[in-house]
Amino acid sequence: MIIARSASELRAATTGPISFVPTMGALHAGHASLIRVAAADGSCVVVSDFVNPSQFGEGEDFEIYPRDLDGDATIAEQAGAHILYAPDVSEIYPPDFSTTIDPGPLAQELCGAHRPGHFAGVATVVVRLFGLVGPRRAIFGRKDYQQLAILQHVTNDLALGIEIVGVPTVRDADGLALSSRNAYLSAAERSLAVTIPRALRHAAEAYAEGQRNGGVLAEIGHNALDGVALEYLELRSTDLGFYDPNLPAVLLVAGHVGTTRLIDNIVLDPTAPERAATQISTKEYA
Ligand code: PAF
Repeated sequence: MIIARSASELRAATTGPISFVPTMGALHAGHASLIRVAAADGSCVVVSDFVNPSQFGEGEDFEIYPRDLDGDATIAEQAGAHILYAPDVSEIYPPDFSTTIDPGPLAQELCGAHRPGHFAGVATVVVRLFGLVGPRRAIFGRKDYQQLAILQHVTNDLALGIEIVGVPTVRDADGLALSSRNAYLSAAERSLAVTIPRALRHAAEAYAEGQRNGGVLAEIGHNALDGVALEYLELRSTDLGFYDPNLPAVLLVAGHVGTTRLIDNIVLDPTAPERAATQISTKEYA
């Protein structure tokens, strides 16, 4: 695997169609699963490793976000990446850079309501990276459900001609969705954090038993959350419109445990209602 520190090094190293995995580094098994999906079709796999300042708000964790290029290189290479693109901030945002992508109303809801400007920062850096990398397809985790929906929308709206692929969330044995931010959690906080997947699972179990009332499902989720400073817990249609009990839905949650912001979600499908609960199997339920 080649580590490219500039777009020219990147271009010199790429061959054939590119599958692209954009990341902010601090790679873990969730990223490795994205890379494996990228590699599965035999394309040239480029992983970007760039902590994007424009998607962090004031007082958020940009300064302390974990950075470990050597560790990232090991994980990326083992998972099948061909190129790890780790640009300097001046390459992504040169001094005369002045464009911002406004992804529209969805960017103001859910996480966007709590992180003003966040999705504009994400969309802007991802489209810039698309321009620099030139992928045929790009792979994102479904843990960031709203991000995936927004990037799909932006890619369609701007006719970028890039296939957007969503990959299922990878979880630890206790059910917690893998996230680079889990590294911030103390042992005590971690035991509070697992109430997030537990809440999703409780709601999914009720759904599997036939509960379709959105208010009741949300309340079941709320009741299972303990010690999480909740930002939102919302049931939506899978395209993030209004919940319709007859159609597939997604239950999304965001909150803080201590100073760590965590998000998670679970898809509920009326044609396979028991499938959701099995997405989160944790030791405590065994
Ligand atoms: O999901 C992430 O890690 C980031 O939001 C992304 C897509 C790499 C953009 O910085």
